[in-house]
Amino acid sequence: MRELKKVGILGTGSMGKGLAVAFAEAGNTVCLGSREADKGKKIAELLSHCKITGGSNQDAAEQSEYVVLAMRYQKDHPVLGELKPLLADKVIIDISNPIIDVGGDIEPLWRISASESIAGELEHSKVIGAFKNTFASTLSSPYFDQMKSHVLVVGDDQQAKNEFIQMVNFMPFEALDAGPLRMARVLEGMSAMMYSFAQQASYRNKIGIRLLN
Ligand SMILES: NC(=O)c1ccc[n+]([C@@H]2O[C@H](COP(=O)([O-])OP(=O)(O)OC[C@H]3O[C@@H](n4cnc5c(N)ncnc54)[C@H](OP(=O)(O)O)[C@@H]3O)[C@@H](O)[C@H]2O)c1
Repeated sequence: MRELKKVGILGTGSMGKGLAVAFAEAGNTVCLGSREADKGKKIAELLSHCKITGGSNQDAAEQSEYVVLAMRYQKDHPVLGELKPLLADKVIIDISNPIIDVGGDIEPLWRISASESIAGELEHSKVIGAFKNTFASTLSSPYFDQMKSHVLVVGDDQQAKNEFIQMVNFMPFEALDAGPLRMARVLEGMSAMMYSFAQQASYRNKIGIRLLN
């Protein structure tokens, strides 16, 4: 039988809320965390799903086996510094795309990826990169005609990655193992390209990735 998981989400923005609902719909228990516990609680109430509770980032990290970082990436992030002991031995899902707009061209910000950088900071956690190429609007409206988009998942801990892939496959997405954590550089670069396309009217409302074979 499938084991349902406890998922913590740090950040109550469009991705945080969208992923909270998506994980909860797949049967997992979700704690939506915020820098302000009251805000986390309030937003969780607004999502009105029996599997979602809200609180502080600390509550979300403490209660969960899988912790999604749904805030913008920042080097030496104070939140990660504070929560580091609580995140040890857990699976951390980095969804961030540190990209920059250079005179209209959207480019990756660094030569190494946010995921690798976070793995360097959280050396006792199992860091995975995923959902980087899934726009927030796709979380609430996941199908393209009747097709699911792919969620490309990268990570160096094969067991953690396999288990996370299984979790995603119970959501309205199909997960693919896209290789080691360093491949997050490619995923973040792909996101930069996708954001460029999203600026064009024909892609604005709906853009996702599916590899055809
Ligand atoms: N939007 C997309 O389509 C998309 C797609 C793929 C990946 N991503 C990635 O997903 C992440 C979140 O994106 P988003 O669009 O959801 O962003 P967002 O709507 O701006 O939300 C980010 C959330 O992070 C928290 N936050 C803000 N500043 C913070 C700080 N200094 N320290 C700690 N937490 C802070 C806030 O929640 P609290 O106030 O509750 O703490 C905020 O609501 C980003 O890394 C982005 O690159 C976004």
